[in-house]
Amino acid sequence: MSQSIDFDLDLINRYNTAGPRYTSYPTAVQFHEGFGAERYAEIARETNASGRPLSLYFHIPFCDTVCFYCACNKVVTKDRTKAKPYLDRLYKEMAMQGALFDKNRPVTQLHWGGGTPTFISHDEMTELMGKTAEHFGLLDDDTGEYSIEIDPREVDDSTLGLLRKLGFNRISLGVQDFDEKVQKSVNRVQSESLVLGVLEEARSLGFRSTSVDLIYGLPHQDRKTFGDTIEKIIKVDPARISVFNYAHLPDRFKPQRRIEEEALPSPGEKLAMLQQTIQQLTEAGYVYIGMDHFAKPDDELAVAQRDHTLYRNFQGYSTHSNCDLVGLGSTSVGVVGNSYSQNHHDLEKYFQCIDDGKLAVFRGVELDADDVLRRDVITRLICHFELAFEDVEKVHGIKFTDYFARELKELKPMEDDGLLKVSGNTITVQPAGRLLIRNICMTFDRYLREATEQRFSRVI
Ligand SMILES: C[S@@+](CC[C@H](N)C(=O)[O-])C[C@H]1O[C@@H](n2cnc3c(N)ncnc32)[C@H](O)[C@@H]1O
Ligand code: SF4
Repeated sequence: MSQSIDFDLDLINRYNTAGPRYTSYPTAVQFHEGFGAERYAEIARETNASGRPLSLYFHIPFCDTVCFYCACNKVVTKDRTKAKPYLDRLYKEMAMQGALFDKNRPVTQLHWGGGTPTFISHDEMTELMGKTAEHFGLLDDDTGEYSIEIDPREVDDSTLGLLRKLGFNRISLGVQDFDEKVQKSVNRVQSESLVLGVLEEARSLGFRSTSVDLIYGLPHQDRKTFGDTIEKIIKVDPARISVFNYAHLPDRFKPQRRIEEEALPSPGEKLAMLQQTIQQLTEAGYVYIGMDHFAKPDDELAVAQRDHTLYRNFQGYSTHSNCDLVGLGSTSVGVVGNSYSQNHHDLEKYFQCIDDGKLAVFRGVELDADDVLRRDVITRLICHFELAFEDVEKVHGIKFTDYFARELKELKPMEDDGLLKVSGNTITVQPAGRLLIRNICMTFDRYLREATEQRFSRVI
């Protein structure tokens, strides 16, 4: 399949509406507090019959300093002793979670995210991985996808070597932008040499698929400055690059109130930056995986997209689709059996649950057959940009054209606009539709439809 992408400004402007990113379906809006720890534990035990591999996500919420743009769940503190009481709870949670899952289920995927996972000391990192091995079946042959988010300011000479020894084989590096003025305006100052040094060291230590995070839409950015950052990144040749769109929502994310609004690029300049970035990256040989992500054509993600084995969940794209995802730590989301579950965001509440000997799940949702079917359709479209009706029919026992008659009709205007093609029994997203994949997926979102219908009837 072709992995090309077209930037069509007219279409982008016309379809530029807010919409979910579909890291889950149903989305977090449908999570409710009627789903709690007890039901989660029942479902978790039931999944043992499948013997499916596990994916573990650990949330380490601490950061030494705040980046003003940040929308992540974090606790900003200079006090490194704060890590210990948190990790003690994490170990207790791990013991409770580990008891639910058969130990012989291999952990094929593991991720430390944050916050800043390397905020914790080297001894604490070693202890955390050691405790994980006590409760779960970690792989020791480097065949798993074991990844960690790295803030280049938070690693010293021996950190990466230690992480490699502990079993990590992938890193993603928070770069955001190289321009000094931009860095100062968002309180994220890090030198180019620091970033490049970390990338080089990761490569020499044998980390696979190093990934770099960038953000466009920050104060003082324009095509020239951001174009320079992209050029510099292309030169160091990471396997994957994420280019996130900065959404300025100061009412929701407090640190963003410290961002100088007058210095933000206009919506037009932002789109021009995106267009230029796509051009620079595709000319340098990267392919667009979807939803802000680019990868080298021989990278596992790009290969999996072509083979139709790519998968997407809360941690982004992955090649391990057949896992139950266990979320550990505050805020973490689990995807176990046909359910989503989420731990308390608030550290005090998280601590309280664990101290009471209970899991910290405070909300979630169980999927019915329609949810499972629609999740499958949305995942296939987002990951493969293609969907064969027959593949869905085989798994879910439906007749696609009957079940989705309404949706197929609604796709017609998008087809007329050149976003996709429905031919025979296949939907194929066209190069001009790839940046608008969310809009295509939104057609299959039952909850969005119901919300729109409700709004409509209220208006009448
Ligand atoms: C949890 S952070 C990464 C780990 C580490 N704390 C760091 O900053 O390097 C994950 C990534 O989310 C992205 N991010 C955070 N806030 C964002 C926002 N408001 N808009 C777009 N991307 C954002 C950044 O690119 C960041 O590298
Ligand atoms: S971007 Fe990373 S380091 Fe900065 S505040 Fe957010 S989580 Fe912390």
